[in-house]
Formats: sequence, C-alpha cells, structure tokens
Amino acid sequence: MSKSTGFDAEVLKLYRIVNTNLVPMWAKIVETVGKESGGKGSVLDLASGPGNPSMQLAEAFPQLKVKCTDASPDMVDKAKALAKEKGLYDKLEFEVLDLEDLSAIPSGSQDMVTVSLGFMFPEDLKKSVEEVHRVTKPGGTLVTTVWREVPMMELVADVMEELLNKKLPPPAINPLSLKENSALDGPLQDAGFEIKSSEELPITFNLGTREEAWQVGTLFDRAMLNELQESGEEGDVFGKFRTIFEEKAEGMWIQDGDSEVLCMPDPGIYRLVVAKKPL
Ligand SMILES: C[S@@+](CC[C@H](N)C(=O)[O-])C[C@H]1O[C@@H](n2cnc3c(N)ncnc32)[C@H](O)[C@@H]1O
Repeated sequence: MSKSTGFDAEVLKLYRIVNTNLVPMWAKIVETVGKESGGKGSVLDLASGPGNPSMQLAEAFPQLKVKCTDASPDMVDKAKALAKEKGLYDKLEFEVLDLEDLSAIPSGSQDMVTVSLGFMFPEDLKKSVEEVHRVTKPGGTLVTTVWREVPMMELVADVMEELLNKKLPPPAINPLSLKENSALDGPLQDAGFEIKSSEELPITFNLGTREEAWQVGTLFDRAMLNELQESGEEGDVFGKFRTIFEEKAEGMWIQDGDSEVLCMPDPGIYRLVVAKKPL
C-alpha cells in the first residue's frame, strides 16, 4: 500500500539539509544493530525516508540482508537513486511499505527491525507497533529512535504565532508526538515487546545558509503555508514567514567557511530504544 505521508518530492531538498545533522544518530543505530545482530541476519528498515539508516547498515555489514522501505513512493525512489549513486543498490532490497500494514512481510521473519524517526507519524501507532511485533522473529530486536526535544520547532512555532496572530496547535505531522517515554513504551509493551534499553542523546542542529534556513523552517507547517499562499488572502505568505523567521533567528548565526549558517543554540535530543520480542 502506498500513500502520501507529507514527505514528498517538494520537501526532499529541505530534508537533505536537516538530514546532514542526523549522521551521528544513524551511526549510533548502526552500532546498536551491530551489537544486537553481530552484523548477520535480516533487518527490515521501516520509514527509511531517503534510505537512512538502511544504506549505512548495508555498508557496515555486508552479510546483513537489509530491506529499505517507506510508505511514500517518492522516498523509496529517492532511496533507490541515492543507493545507486553510492554503489549500494545491489546490496539492498526496496519496497513501499506502510507501518500500519506490513501484510507483505511474513510473521516472525525478521531478525531485526529498525524504525528511525518513524513511529511519530502513522495515524495508528498501536497497529503499527503490533505489525512490527508480528514480523519480528521471537528473540528478535527492534531498534528505534524518536524525538524528545526539537528546539527549531519552538522557533518555528514563534514565527507562525506572529505570522497568524494566534498560537497554533501542534502540527498534524508532529515529530514530538512521542516526546513522553510512555507514549512509545506503553504501545511497545502492550504489543509484547520488552524494553531492553533507552538512551537520550544530543544532536546539534545546523539549518543551512540565510537562503536555506527559513525554508527549512517552513517544513513543519508546509501544507498550511501553501494553502494560505494559494488563497491569496494574506499576500506573500512565504516572504512574511522569512522576514519574521530571520528576526527571531538573529543571534543564532555562526560563520562556517565563507557563509553564515544558522546553528540552533540548544541541541535536539533523541531517544534510542532497543526492544526485544521474547522467545
Ligand atoms: C523523519 S523521516 C525519517 C527518515 C529516516 N528513517 C531517518 O532516520 O532520517 C520520517 C519518514 O516516515 C515516513 N512515514 C510516515 N508515515 C509512515 C507510515 N505510516 N509508514 C511508513 N513510513 C511512514 C515518511 O514518509 C518519512 O520518510
């Protein structure tokens, strides 16, 4: 099954800027999968976006059978293109797969499942976690990451509040929807997983140059900004967003070579959870 997840072609370029910050998190996932699997067996990487951490896993562990999947066909196409560029295409399998419906994957078939920054987005988390549990082998492992803190979301919320003259509810596609440990651990345990470990780790966020950073800021409320712009009622919505964004981001710029880049003063925090399906 395929569907639009809000992570389509238009925003891929902007996500690439965000993604450069996530390299240490993917390295940590690779290290964890290595420890848990010994670099052998099968890994189903769900919500892989443009192919992370699938590609790093295939590169690090030649004997591991890695399947790179996402519910968005655009993302899977992007992952295929990037894997070709990196000479990893033949080392991976690719499939469009929705976390909420893994019926294409046999029960108990996966030694490991990875879900990096993915469980926050399906409409039905309980169903998604149950599906992940179903496809995991008894004795197999889930390695997953979720956000606890994303300081740039606060910056963007301030910009949107000033732009619209009102506070917005959390965005429909909310990276912080599993901020509280219980929001993920409850469904994992209800599905039958045992939590083996949970770590909180920092990520420095660099949002790119003056030309890029404000556009990255539009990612969270993209659909609303597009709608407002198209309605014509608010004039140049993206131009206004940029002006307010740059006012609020004053003081966050650092020199990086020849250009100034926006570096968030506080790090983002992600949580890495390792969960086991009992034998
Ligand atoms: C923030 S990206 C994470 C990408 C990658 N795993 C990483 O670590 O950078 C979230 C991904 O979840 C995907 N996604 C959203 N809802 C999904 C669902 N129901 N099933 C599978 N993937 C989904 C999106 O298409 C997007 O590629």
